[in-house]
Amino acid sequence: MARNISAQPSRALAEFRLLPRLTTPDTVPAKIDLRTPLVTCFQSGRTLRLGIPIVSAAMQAVSGSEMGIAMAMQGGAAFLFCSQTVASQAEMVRAIKRHKAGFVEPRTVPPDMILREVFALSKKHGFSVFPVVDAERKLLGLIRRDDYDLTRHGHLPAQERMVPRARLDVGVEITQLEEANELLLEGHHSVLPVVDKKGRLLSLVFKKDIHEHVENPLQVHDEKKRLLAVAAINTHDYEQRVPALVEAGVDALAVDSSDGYSFYQRQVLEWIGQRHPGLPVVGGNIVTAAGFDYLVAAGAGAIKVGMGGGTICITQEQKGTGRGLATAILDVVEARDRHFEKTGRYVPVIADGGVVTAKDVVIALALGADSVMMGRYFARMDESPAEKVVVNGRLMKAYWGEGSARAREWKAARYGQAAFVEGVEGLVDYAGKLADNLPETLAMVRSSMASCGVADIGDLHHNAEMELVSALSIREGQVHDVVLPRGASADDSPRSWGD
Ligand code: IMP
Repeated sequence: MARNISAQPSRALAEFRLLPRLTTPDTVPAKIDLRTPLVTCFQSGRTLRLGIPIVSAAMQAVSGSEMGIAMAMQGGAAFLFCSQTVASQAEMVRAIKRHKAGFVEPRTVPPDMILREVFALSKKHGFSVFPVVDAERKLLGLIRRDDYDLTRHGHLPAQERMVPRARLDVGVEITQLEEANELLLEGHHSVLPVVDKKGRLLSLVFKKDIHEHVENPLQVHDEKKRLLAVAAINTHDYEQRVPALVEAGVDALAVDSSDGYSFYQRQVLEWIGQRHPGLPVVGGNIVTAAGFDYLVAAGAGAIKVGMGGGTICITQEQKGTGRGLATAILDVVEARDRHFEKTGRYVPVIADGGVVTAKDVVIALALGADSVMMGRYFARMDESPAEKVVVNGRLMKAYWGEGSARAREWKAARYGQAAFVEGVEGLVDYAGKLADNLPETLAMVRSSMASCGVADIGDLHHNAEMELVSALSIREGQVHDVVLPRGASADDSPRSWGD
């Protein structure tokens, strides 16, 4: 017989509901503070904080540098996936660290490039403006789509049709968006090239982007005002990967494992603690108090919780291991609070796998998590690296697990073929830009917290009132007994008319 058999069922987030409490002028949505700790380095005492309690998953289909930049600008963080070469992951970190909101690093063309080729580049990348630069990257001019007619000028080199530098407004060594904005508003062009003192191109600033990029107060920076970069690592090549990521300027690491309660993860955490003592590291994933204690003792500065709940995950089905996310959070949060009482050290908890909607976010937080990690949610957006596909006229994006056959191809070449897969590849509905989706989700989280009468996440931890719901009660809370227009039902069920 097993050593311990619990008669209590493992609970999912969806089984809990929050009870409303008195909303006061201090707890209206506009006043709610979503700032939260992400990870602490207990050796240096440094805590990285986020402006919002959401991070994107360390997956090939989710978190590259574009997601890293977009997330840090919104107050969150993307965990850059580690199922790629050390060099390409380090380059992603560098791309995040050198990004300046509103300052775009453009693709350039040489002066002798034929306009037909410039047009092909513009079709391929969707850019309509290319700076023309010489071999030293000195700015010679700009070639825009309006500057040439393909039939008439297609055979000419770019320099024959470009607007030469002398006729452009150019910013020299500008680093502030406000300064660039001033030049754009005073000038006559919709784009401003920025060059260094020697005339070498640094970036472009577009008039249309200014408002979108005016600083978001929730943006997360390091002390040099560079965006926050977080990267996942594995237990195989950390001795090469960690130094390269540190060199690239990474702010925090996360050991990426579906079962982090292992001797190997302890080795990684201890190695980082010795070689890079100031660097905060997230440990995980674990789902028990014992797993929490083990990884925190090894030096983890935050713990990621969850096993088997991800939308693309088949770990529970394949191996029979895992735990409902709500039960896992409750068990780990109890251990976290005990640890805090004993040592005075607060270890942030990140809930991961199966957090799909705003209500899941707020319920995970109310159960005691400090932030949540989401994969499927972000895979749907422009900033995810996955390809778009059209299926029966429906625009979708690919989404695949790190343990799926598709992601494992990369791992197999390095660490040998795994005997079985733990994830699947699927499709998710395309959702557009992150900046058009995340604010709505956060508005729902704030509204829910307002109903709970709490002003911030700490307040939610201490004062939320929750209860378990029955299956019938869940059904009562959904749309029922009405016929919906086609597409209006979330699950596209046969209740819809017009099929
Ligand atoms: P989602 O937000 O429900 O889509 O879940 C994302 C999470 O699933 C990730 O952050 C990982 O913890 C987990 N995950 C990613 N790939 C796999 C896999 O192939 N099998 C099992 N779990 C996975």
